[in-house]
Amino acid sequence: MRKLTIAIDGPAGSGKSSVARVVAQRLGYLYLDSGAMYRALGLKALANNGSELASEYELERLARDTRIELQPVPPHLRDAAIHNRVLLDGEDVTQAIRSREVAQAASRVATIAGVRAFLVAQQQKAGAGGGVVMEGRDIGTVVFPKAELKIFLEATAEARAERRWKEHVEKGEFFELAQVLDEVHERDKRDTERKVSPLVRASDAVLVDNTAMDVEETARLIVLLAREREKELGRPSGGAS
Ligand code: CDP
Ligand code: CDP
Repeated sequence: MRKLTIAIDGPAGSGKSSVARVVAQRLGYLYLDSGAMYRALGLKALANNGSELASEYELERLARDTRIELQPVPPHLRDAAIHNRVLLDGEDVTQAIRSREVAQAASRVATIAGVRAFLVAQQQKAGAGGGVVMEGRDIGTVVFPKAELKIFLEATAEARAERRWKEHVEKGEFFELAQVLDEVHERDKRDTERKVSPLVRASDAVLVDNTAMDVEETARLIVLLAREREKELGRPSGGAS
């Protein structure tokens, strides 16, 4: 069966990472979390007092001088909150990039064209050859515009904020839900309104609103769509019937 490139895009908390990870596991595909790359760079900028965050030029230079690797999670570390293992200049930052502060820094770093060009090239290299589920904001529009299956995941901002809030509570971090909702709105706004590669649904992406669906249901739906697509592409004509 021919292996696909599957692109999953959507706003913060729409379930991209958890769903993409399950889909990749079921299909025997590689899972790649592109947002982890922006987060790793955001973390590095914050570690340098955040001064680079104010300068486009400095952020581009920082990106060029940074090595980010995404690795599959070893079986003994598998848990819902861990996506890819992330190495920043050789150091494991898998957990360190999951803070709210880093999320905001990532979305600022991600507005810079030079930074995006650099990270997109790395993402294309990592996913070349297919058999991959990559998730982010611009996977179906910019990174893999020819992906054989594109999904745009959505859920209401309230549902997405509550999901994120629960994750923090489970880690023993207590914040007001209203504060997390504000941050979700802020990131949605920055991601959808930026000039370069804004978060937008590709015209050929399947829209899946999973406000009232759990991770398992959402993943099952996408696996079904993928199996159909694999079959279509495996037919002698090579195309959809
Ligand atoms: O998991 P969550 O949706 O909260 O965020 P993420 O996927 O880890 O991405 C963090 C930030 O990186 C996002 O708010 C985007 O600004 C940026 N990002 C992007 O611009 N393009 C991507 N392909 C992935 C992430
Ligand atoms: O990657 P993204 O920011 O789009 O979302 P995520 O990190 O995969 O999901 C955020 C949280 O929402 C996780 O704790 C998921 O388990 C949860 N979730 C959910 O409860 N129901 C869904 N349909 C999708 C995600």
